[in-house]
Amino acid sequence: MSTQRRVLIAPSILSADFSNLADQIAKAEEGGADWIHLDVMDGHFVPNLTIGPPVVRSLRKLTRLPFDVHLMVTNPDDHLQAFRDAGADRMTVHVETCPHLHRTVQHIHALGAKAGVCLNPGTPPLMLEQILPDIELVLVMTVNPGFGGQSFLPGSLAKLRAVRRMIRAQQLDTYVQVDGGIDPTTAPSVIEAGADVLVAGHFIFSSADIPQAVHSLRRSALPSLTT
Ligand code: DX5
Ligand code: ZN
Repeated sequence: MSTQRRVLIAPSILSADFSNLADQIAKAEEGGADWIHLDVMDGHFVPNLTIGPPVVRSLRKLTRLPFDVHLMVTNPDDHLQAFRDAGADRMTVHVETCPHLHRTVQHIHALGAKAGVCLNPGTPPLMLEQILPDIELVLVMTVNPGFGGQSFLPGSLAKLRAVRRMIRAQQLDTYVQVDGGIDPTTAPSVIEAGADVLVAGHFIFSSADIPQAVHSLRRSALPSLTT
């Protein structure tokens, strides 16, 4: 399968000003964001607490951009329905939290959403092998999940290449998303390694000019689109 498709930008509101999310999302959209990435943390699977379905439901009224919900929770199955009802278009679960991963993916699809599966930095790509044909997105964490603004882990590049190889070998059209430490300095290397959806929180929302930050991330991705 081709890797030529356009790189998508999914701003993570984790680093946004939570007192003014309407403004922050509007600015990300103005900059050309493709999806809005929503980080759900339970203080158990990851050492932080963030948002739940009521917040997603409130944000849903603000934009028509797809909501890409990243579930960093111990028991994602218990919450899929609520997040879908609140407006999630895509839901990504961690391999590390899903003993019945295939059933969880079926559940996401039965709710009418796109399914993603995420790997923590310490989890090998092999964990994807069986589930790959059944999902629309692989999320390769490029930091340990839990907090925005961490440094990109360079070891992620080899994993991205391995994931992209698996997708090609099975002739699939799966998105490969990266999340953590993504900015114009790291974007070219992750794209070269096979990523086509860039999540960025700190880089975009800590910028004084949010639309410009989205533009500059997209520009940084362009020279790599050669294959
Ligand atoms: C980390 C979250 C990310 C985070 C993005 O656990 O999943 O989505 O907000 O990270 P930065 O701020 O590094 O772009
Ligand atoms: Zn995330």
